[in-house]
Amino acid sequence: MPTSDTTLPASAAAVRALFRQRFGREPDTIASAPGRVNLIGEHTDYNGGEVLPIGIERRTWVAAGVRREGGGMLRAVSANEDGAGEASLVAPTRSEHWWDYLTGVAAPIARDALGSGALAGAGIDAAVTSDVPTGAGLSSSAAIEVATALAVAKALGGTLEPREAAMIGWRAETGFVGVASGIMDQFASALSRQGEALHLDCATTETELVPFRDAVLIIDSAVRRSLRDSAFNTRQAECAQALRLMRERWPKLPSLAAATPEQVLAARLPAPLDRRALHVSRETRRVQEAVTLLRAGKPLSGELLLGSHESLRDLYECSRPELDWLVARSMLEPGVRGARLTGAGWGGCMIVVGDESALAAAGPKIGKDYEKEFGLTARLWLSRAAEGARVEEV
Ligand code: GLA
Repeated sequence: MPTSDTTLPASAAAVRALFRQRFGREPDTIASAPGRVNLIGEHTDYNGGEVLPIGIERRTWVAAGVRREGGGMLRAVSANEDGAGEASLVAPTRSEHWWDYLTGVAAPIARDALGSGALAGAGIDAAVTSDVPTGAGLSSSAAIEVATALAVAKALGGTLEPREAAMIGWRAETGFVGVASGIMDQFASALSRQGEALHLDCATTETELVPFRDAVLIIDSAVRRSLRDSAFNTRQAECAQALRLMRERWPKLPSLAAATPEQVLAARLPAPLDRRALHVSRETRRVQEAVTLLRAGKPLSGELLLGSHESLRDLYECSRPELDWLVARSMLEPGVRGARLTGAGWGGCMIVVGDESALAAAGPKIGKDYEKEFGLTARLWLSRAAEGARVEEV
């Protein structure tokens, strides 16, 4: 999807105004959901491993209303995107436009309600405003999916548990929009809490909140992630192949992440599968160590963050020189605990974890030096762990 304008004000009031202006009435409901960054646990979610994301202080707001005589159609408008969307919720097809995220989520929720009963033949109107940056790896798509799921379910008179909203969003992303991803992003957007990190076991979808008080400086390297999708698919296939080979020796191995580093080494997998598997195995164990620290009220260790980055660079091979440089440069600043690339990699964002005022002072300096070094203008956001998805009072 093209990068869209997310510099406009996004709030419950803004999305209500947009809905009213476009559809000439009040919405039935408004819901919002944040973007996310992952603190540690990269490329573990689709390998049955563990992740530790936080919601960020950037949200997507969706206002929704049922339209009588709507013919089972979705109508959608966004403050950030061009064009007004129209799509069937009864027989949805992909349009390759931004409203596919709404269609893919709203259709499975609305299909039964719009097919028979009191709402038979109705449609749904939706308006969107967002300040989650797009194209940076901050899960703007998960935010719109999860917010849409909650808003549409409520508008139809039902409710949805946040984890159901996450699963519906993930199915829309992978099955309807057609982007390969694990479940981390939608779970993070749906279940995050202010001041806490979300520990998610992707094998069981069990979650736990652990205190996380540091601030996070998010730096978008402005390196376009054009190779991301194909490289991501290649890595998924490599991991699946590594698991198949390991199961020849350990038939009951539940997932690649469940393999210990000793098992991976003993398996003598062919390159590069050996490197991929070792990353996944060690990375999920780094998450467990990070969670142990946070549970005890201690800060996240810089060593774990840097260890994760080095593993992504050397074993998973999804970093870029620009991201490596940003990590090294950030570590020179006082008050910085650790830094690493976050999200899929191959460009996109990295995070710096530490003291809020130190990060606020460091950000512009790092950005300036980065521009000098690479001629690229980084985008920077300072955030704390923010509240996950919620239905707003209307
Ligand atoms: C992308 C995917 C996530 C996860 C990360 C890597 O963000 O959407 O599901 O796999 O990459 O950790």
